[in-house]
Amino acid sequence: MKTKILVTGGLGYIGSHVVVELQSQGFEVIIIDDLSNSSENVLDGIYSISKIKPLFEKIDLKDRKSVVKFFKNHSDVKGVIHFAASKSVEESTINPLKYYKNNVNPLIYLLHEIGKLSVQKLIFSSSCTVYGQADILPIKENSTLKEPESPYGFTKKIGEKIIKDLCAVNNTLNSVSLRYFNPIGAHKSANIGELTIGTPQNLVPFVIQTGIGIHEKISIFGKDYSTPDGTCIRDYIHVVDLAKAHVIALKRLLEENNIENYEVYNIGTGKGYSVMEIISAFEEISGIKLNYSIKERRKGDIMSAYADTKKANLILNWKPELTLKDALSSAWKWEKKQLKLK
Ligand code: WQD
Repeated sequence: MKTKILVTGGLGYIGSHVVVELQSQGFEVIIIDDLSNSSENVLDGIYSISKIKPLFEKIDLKDRKSVVKFFKNHSDVKGVIHFAASKSVEESTINPLKYYKNNVNPLIYLLHEIGKLSVQKLIFSSSCTVYGQADILPIKENSTLKEPESPYGFTKKIGEKIIKDLCAVNNTLNSVSLRYFNPIGAHKSANIGELTIGTPQNLVPFVIQTGIGIHEKISIFGKDYSTPDGTCIRDYIHVVDLAKAHVIALKRLLEENNIENYEVYNIGTGKGYSVMEIISAFEEISGIKLNYSIKERRKGDIMSAYADTKKANLILNWKPELTLKDALSSAWKWEKKQLKLK
């Protein structure tokens, strides 16, 4: 009998890569997704890789009745990986209420139903944005959580706090928050990847789309930061390495190897790259010269963030195996395939 895992937002970018990883390790997966930022076609992409079609239910987690009904029908769920949330830093500064409604209430409804299960294991999709601009780099898990720079970052910080407080009063609930740095890249098959609806907010998908000719040039949001080349630095983690970290963390809880019933891990590479370095790396793997222009700094941006990954390396025995070039090449292959499909 396969262990059944619920993946909310499982048709999204990171979610779909985790689903494929879970299936490859013998788990039965059921996906909840409201399709607000994804497509049901992703199920075909997942199937083409794993040859197993996951169960899927189109549910809006803001609809509490649907959440209750789902868990009544699936009380055999042994673990939950919660991705479903809005994720644009910039959009959250324009429409904060959407972010509090989408990212906080559904977590509360989920936790309420998980609390009725015989096995209560939760992996929470958190973010390095909870650190704000850290004073000391690389960033450790016990770094001071400064004021997040956006409502999006606040919803991740609140989410962690809600789970931590619940774990403190309910030791049946065991949870891990994974604080991602910057996820990029796609599965090597190019059958799943980052589906950007509209103009990409994030750097790497925009760079890739500029390389393919969708955009004429890249706007670099600020070249006057006190970094070596004046542009912001981030820790870009291959989405497949990130997906593997989720399955490792889940198995840690299922096998009851966790020391605390609430744990937090940074998931990054430990190396920072500037915007200019990302552009150069893409030019190198693609042989395409990119045009760019320097614009004003973007509201909500921090200057530099990259992870201290020792905790995940030592305790989870997880290390990233793929390089920046692997990530950019896989993203490039995915984008070219998307263009052919249009
Ligand atoms: C990176 C750098 C921009 C676009 C993201 C996600 C967030 C979180 C962390 C998971 C910044 C610059 C960007 C462009 C640019 N992930 N840039 N021109 O802001 O670090 O946040 O990762 O939780 O959800 O949004 O990533 O790719 O948007 O920006 O110059 O067209 O690239 O200013 O310095 P960010 P990003």
